[in-house]
Amino acid sequence: MWKVGDLTIDGRVVLGPMSGYTSEAYRLFMKPFGTALSYTEMVSDSAMMHNPRSDEYLMYGSCPFTGTQVFGSDPERMAIAAEECLKRNPNTDLFDVNMGCPVEKVVRRGAGSALMTDPARCGEIVRRIKEKTGIPVTAKIRLGQGADSMNFREVIAELEAAEVDAITVHARTRKERYAGIPHYDLMRDLREEMSVPLIVSGNVFSLDDAIGYTEITGADAVMVARGGIGNPFLVTQIDRWFRDGTRLPNPTVSQQVDWCLELADMLIAEKGEEMAAKKLRSIAPKFIVGCRHSREFRYRLATEIDDRASLEAILEEVRERLGDRVVRTLGYRTSVPEDD
Ligand SMILES: Cc1cc2nc3c(=O)[nH]c(=O)nc-3n(C[C@H](O)[C@H](O)[C@H](O)COP(=O)(O)O)c2cc1C
Repeated sequence: MWKVGDLTIDGRVVLGPMSGYTSEAYRLFMKPFGTALSYTEMVSDSAMMHNPRSDEYLMYGSCPFTGTQVFGSDPERMAIAAEECLKRNPNTDLFDVNMGCPVEKVVRRGAGSALMTDPARCGEIVRRIKEKTGIPVTAKIRLGQGADSMNFREVIAELEAAEVDAITVHARTRKERYAGIPHYDLMRDLREEMSVPLIVSGNVFSLDDAIGYTEITGADAVMVARGGIGNPFLVTQIDRWFRDGTRLPNPTVSQQVDWCLELADMLIAEKGEEMAAKKLRSIAPKFIVGCRHSREFRYRLATEIDDRASLEAILEEVRERLGDRVVRTLGYRTSVPEDD
């Protein structure tokens, strides 16, 4: 158990914010696997203020605890946006401030990872949002802009002075985006230096990744992001190990098929069949990554899903051919060796 402000978080796995993925349906799907805290897709301060449609992205309250992630650059505007958002959705659990996004159109307006060039502003944003909303506020940062400007310690100090309630550190720089080996070595015993909970992010693809990164940094929790796409059971493996030291085996292909269909139904209910089918073309193949002789099926899942019926037809073929096998290595990793 650990605390984010007055919220008691029971579990060591946090679901990372991912735009295009972590909609309400996805968060609810992942929850029973053991995510103790989830984050919405990022939403800009102006969308939060002026566009009621942004509520569709966020959908509060049905998946406790969920952090609503805001991006922007002006402390006052961001605080007003959060206040508006909370008024419309009084059961919002907490806010998270995006200080890590490397995408050009976000950075160009001084938001996301660009904020880290101005540590005082990072603190000011947290301070103002806390003042205006009175609920917990967390922040998600990177190591810095590049190898020669890793100022995460300075940013952490400003955030702590602003009474941030927890900090996620993605162990890469803005320049590295999402590629390459994260630099956990630079975060050795970081938690000991901090006065608030630390969540670590970056390449959490296996239980051993989670154990290793926690040992190095002393983190309170690990963030599962890409590693959970197509491998929700990773969350259960990590959660269970941290609870009682049990190492659960990987699931069978047949279980993966069941979970993929469950997620499909939730996405269809949320987005409609056509939109959900598009999304599933990128998600469904990942459920059978790391499984021998699955390459042809992965290709078909990526190209032939038009609706639930076509998804189910392919997945049932997968089950018939490969169902009893235990999946070897799962997840997003592009380095998974080709298997057939
Ligand atoms: C498709 C995608 C969308 C993402 N969207 C967000 C976002 O909206 N806000 C955010 O703070 N991080 C976002 N991230 C970063 C993740 O939360 C996470 O920190 C990052 O992927 C590193 O973890 P991983 O290597 O385990 O995937 C996104 C990552 C991906 C791959």
